[in-house]
Amino acid sequence: MLDAEIIDTLIRRARDARSFSYAPYSNFHVGAALLCIDGSIYSGCNVENAAYSPGNCAERTAVFKAVSEGHTKFKAIAIVGEGDVTPPCGVCRQVLREFVVPQDFQVILAGHGSAYKIKSLEELLPLSFGPDNLI
Ligand code: THU
Repeated sequence: MLDAEIIDTLIRRARDARSFSYAPYSNFHVGAALLCIDGSIYSGCNVENAAYSPGNCAERTAVFKAVSEGHTKFKAIAIVGEGDVTPPCGVCRQVLREFVVPQDFQVILAGHGSAYKIKSLEELLPLSFGPDNLI
């Protein structure tokens, strides 16, 4: 379980990352903060592109930053978008799935107020395909 302090920290870090969101095409600004098993936090924002498809979501930015610095074990992610709740897209759910036990990994869906929801990745991506399926 996550304690209240780490939940607050992750939401704050996601909001901070959101301030760097590059989203001139959708105007939909998103920030994410990913908690690693060792307590380190990697944040990310969405980065759009004039050619549209090269754009990247905030969650994947955070995951790729962490993995590219040697972190591959994660506990939780906080996401802050435009409304009360910004659920991660299907591609980001699958990218997260690669590195976590879906029942244990917590997704904190926050907005601009104090309310938030927590869902496990298992709830968001049931019966998922992961590395074990290839072995
Ligand atoms: N987006 C994210 O960064 N994360 C989500 O969870 C949902 C969508 C981005 C992608 C795109 O830059 C913009 O929000 C609109 O879809």
